[in-house]
Amino acid sequence: MLYLDHAATTPVRREVLEAITPHLTTEFGNPSSAHSAGERAREALDGARHRVAAALGARPGDVVFTSGGTEANNLAVQGIGFAAALGRGARHIVTTPIEHSSLLEPARFLARVHGFEVTEVPVDRYGRVDPAGIARVLRPDTALVAVGAANNEIGTVQPVAEIAAACRESGVPLHVDAVQAAGWLPLGDLGADSIAVSGHKLGGLQGTGALAVRRRIPLEPILHGGGQERGARSGTENVAGAVALGVALELAERERAEAAARVARIRDAFVDEVLNRAPNAWLTGHPDDRLPSIASFVLPGVNGESVLIELARSGVLASSGSACRAGSTEPSHVLLAAGFDADTARTAIRFSLPRGLDSSLSPVARALADAADTLAA
Ligand SMILES: Cc1ncc(COP(=O)(O)O)c(C=O)c1O
Repeated sequence: MLYLDHAATTPVRREVLEAITPHLTTEFGNPSSAHSAGERAREALDGARHRVAAALGARPGDVVFTSGGTEANNLAVQGIGFAAALGRGARHIVTTPIEHSSLLEPARFLARVHGFEVTEVPVDRYGRVDPAGIARVLRPDTALVAVGAANNEIGTVQPVAEIAAACRESGVPLHVDAVQAAGWLPLGDLGADSIAVSGHKLGGLQGTGALAVRRRIPLEPILHGGGQERGARSGTENVAGAVALGVALELAERERAEAAARVARIRDAFVDEVLNRAPNAWLTGHPDDRLPSIASFVLPGVNGESVLIELARSGVLASSGSACRAGSTEPSHVLLAAGFDADTARTAIRFSLPRGLDSSLSPVARALADAADTLAA
């Protein structure tokens, strides 16, 4: 089997497994306990916090460990949103229509239940948002701008530095969902006020993530209880999960430049070959400003789910774009926002590549072209 769905999840790295084994066996303390076992767990958690902070250009005290990217995005949108509403009566959130549901849904929840107003700034046909379009909708009562650094379905990279500049000028906090960008794009100098990452996209563990949020940004917790994570996220910390995230992020950051260049080269050759062999295939997302790891297409006239089944028969596991939509007949909200019609959007195929990839994907391009040919006939 050739697994090309790394944007959905990745296998746990060997180095991660080695690093966490003690914390699952002998070093099992609760970091809040006063005794020596608790102290050792606390030290492990602090080490992980330093590693995550270093990879994200944040301070260790900014890092809040969460149960994943979804919770990190929820904490940013709801936590910063509630604090802005309580502090200065600000109830306006700006985002884009192509964001992951873990960003869009908490914003919509605030609108539905707490009287917020959400502005979704449109994107172009590549899924890019114009920073000037964001600047135009900022208001004195804007609580937060929330965007993804790179899209999970089509790989398009957003102009985050320009968006950050516009937000800074208006004094509005910027939250960046870097779940897909981590390990592929530099995150240290994004200019964001908060950044969400997820462990399982990087060779860490499923159900782990973090939000790095600058201390000067007021944040209301969304999980209340014992006050762990400096009160921002109650609940006994997942020490092994945090250690896994720290090691996975540190390794991905160390390998980033080399892996990004190598995988982008293989991806570019793959995209060229698919477009040559399957004349009805279209690349989705930006042709250049895209994650090195994502090759995404639509195949008008061919059912996307059927292509995935054909590919799986030839031993290739890809996806229709988002694991959350698997099995669903709903067209992708990302492709609809980028201007594709619903029928075309239903033909989406996404290949998301591993960091370690070092050989040509020519056989996959051939299998895709064959599948498209058979199903179109
Ligand atoms: C862009 C993006 N944000 C957030 C998430 C959610 O992360 P998690 O699976 O850790 O909850 C995902 C997962 O696919 C994602 O792709």
